[in-house]
Amino acid sequence: MRVMNSFFVKSVLGTLSLFFTLSVSAASVQDDMSREAIAERIKPIGKHYVAGESSAAEESSGPRSGQQVYDKFCTACHTSGVMGAPKINNAADWEERLAQGMDTVLKHAVEGFNAMPPKGTCSDCSEEEIQAAIDYMTKDI
Ligand code: HEC
Repeated sequence: MRVMNSFFVKSVLGTLSLFFTLSVSAASVQDDMSREAIAERIKPIGKHYVAGESSAAEESSGPRSGQQVYDKFCTACHTSGVMGAPKINNAADWEERLAQGMDTVLKHAVEGFNAMPPKGTCSDCSEEEIQAAIDYMTKDI
């Protein structure tokens, strides 16, 4: 009887502890899942916020380099020479233009000149940024 009793107690305890273990682990799995779900839900907001932050940082990080402006705005015409655009670092294309003096060349680039659009379509470029792009386009001449 004593033996039976302790066996009974043990198995009850065993069942209870098994149940307890299962329910605890189920609870923690559920907890993990909801944490994941929450992370999933707030992720786009987080990303958006970070993206907004970094573009704000880009804008406020000073003037773009000549290469950055060129690669984004000027390359469309000045790499292949579309509509007679002087090609990048092509001395024959640039000699006569540079002979006008940089002031005139810059003025043409900022205000537009025949098929050359004002500021080469970089409407928010400063004169300094346009100048940097011109320098980049003519650096090997
Ligand atoms: C839509 C095409 C196009 C884009 C984009 C463009 N250009 Fe031009 N650019 C031209 C053409 C065409 C000419 C030649 C105009 C002419 O001499 O009749 C030219 C000429 C120039 C000249 C020579 C001006 C002169 O006095 O002879 C400069 C400098 C220049 N571009 C700078 C730039 C810069 C800097 C950018 C980018 C910020 C840029 N361009 C983007 C088409 C373009």
